Amino acid sequence: EKGGWPSFMAKEVAEEPEAVANTIRGRVRDGAVVIPELDGLDDLFTGINRIIITACGTASYAGLVGKYALEHWARIPVDVELAHEFRYRDPVIGADTLVVSISQSGETMDTLMAVKYARERGARTLSICNTQGATIPRESDAVVYTHAGPEVAVASTKAFVAQITALLLLGLHVGRVRGSLEDGAASVAELEALPAKLAHVLESEQGHVAQLAGWMADTRSVLFLGRHVGYPIALEGALKLKEISYIHAEGFAAGELKHGPIALIEPGQPVFVIVPSPRHSALIHAKVVSNIQEIRARGARVIVVAEEGDAAVLPFADEVIRIPLAGAFFEPILAVIPLQIFAMALATAKGLDVDQPRNLAKSVTVE
Ligand code: M6R
Repeated sequence: EKGGWPSFMAKEVAEEPEAVANTIRGRVRDGAVVIPELDGLDDLFTGINRIIITACGTASYAGLVGKYALEHWARIPVDVELAHEFRYRDPVIGADTLVVSISQSGETMDTLMAVKYARERGARTLSICNTQGATIPRESDAVVYTHAGPEVAVASTKAFVAQITALLLLGLHVGRVRGSLEDGAASVAELEALPAKLAHVLESEQGHVAQLAGWMADTRSVLFLGRHVGYPIALEGALKLKEISYIHAEGFAAGELKHGPIALIEPGQPVFVIVPSPRHSALIHAKVVSNIQEIRARGARVIVVAEEGDAAVLPFADEVIRIPLAGAFFEPILAVIPLQIFAMALATAKGLDVDQPRNLAKSVTVE
């Protein structure tokens, strides 16, 4: 039931702090991440030399954030592959490979086939899933559930932030097991601070972002730029907009701009830019600020998602959406919220059914 919310999507976005808190609960012990479902399965992480993350759509973007975090904390090579590409291209996998699948429903046929394929070739398999007892976890050697609760709206929102949370937990768990994790306690503190920060973004930016969407209801195309873990968030922001507001949208790695996409910039073109915190890397931050200058000089209408207190973006931004300070791998969970709200508000402004977009099903159970 919608419980007074105008749509399931609105309700599910509002439930994000809870989805993240529930996914963390029971998985932190003495200041370290210990995932009880993985007890006795250390070999899954020590007996391998690479990880392939496989998923479709939004889940694959969560996977991309997971790649950056896992490589950093667990020092193991990670690739992310769309399940339908992985399954049909004769990949090199075997007993030294852990295939991590991500699926909200646990029933996505493309992802299921990728998991089966990996198993048949001797790879180990772990699934991250939101639906207890679904087919994909049953076909996997291990499962880490996200506890986002049932997601009804076709557009994935709370499941996405829960998937990133589960991947961060997995990264910290695997990093500890493999002995490569430094300063795990600080990351645990970051994790535990997330739900309150999510609630803060929802409270402080909802009205502002909805207003922006109202102004932009006639927009024909929106671009999203991000770098590092902001890149998958740019992809996700674009997918949300395509999916429910039927507006052409594209997400790019900000560094790609001069390799092509900057030709798209003409006066008035709306561009969202996810700006990473300068506290994590002054260099990455400076590069993104310089991208903002480049597109602004060509007339783009720049909407920036930046950390509170980041003043460097102010001279070049038409709109600034603020998110609280958070660790590098934790920022994407906060940065995606305004983009979800934007897509939802724009669809609403266009009079569309945000929960049931045309041509789409919640769970894609055919290949
Ligand atoms: O149930 P799954 O997580 O396996 O679904 C994967 C995609 O079909 C799904 O994330 C899709 O991209 C969403 N509708 C995006 O909002």
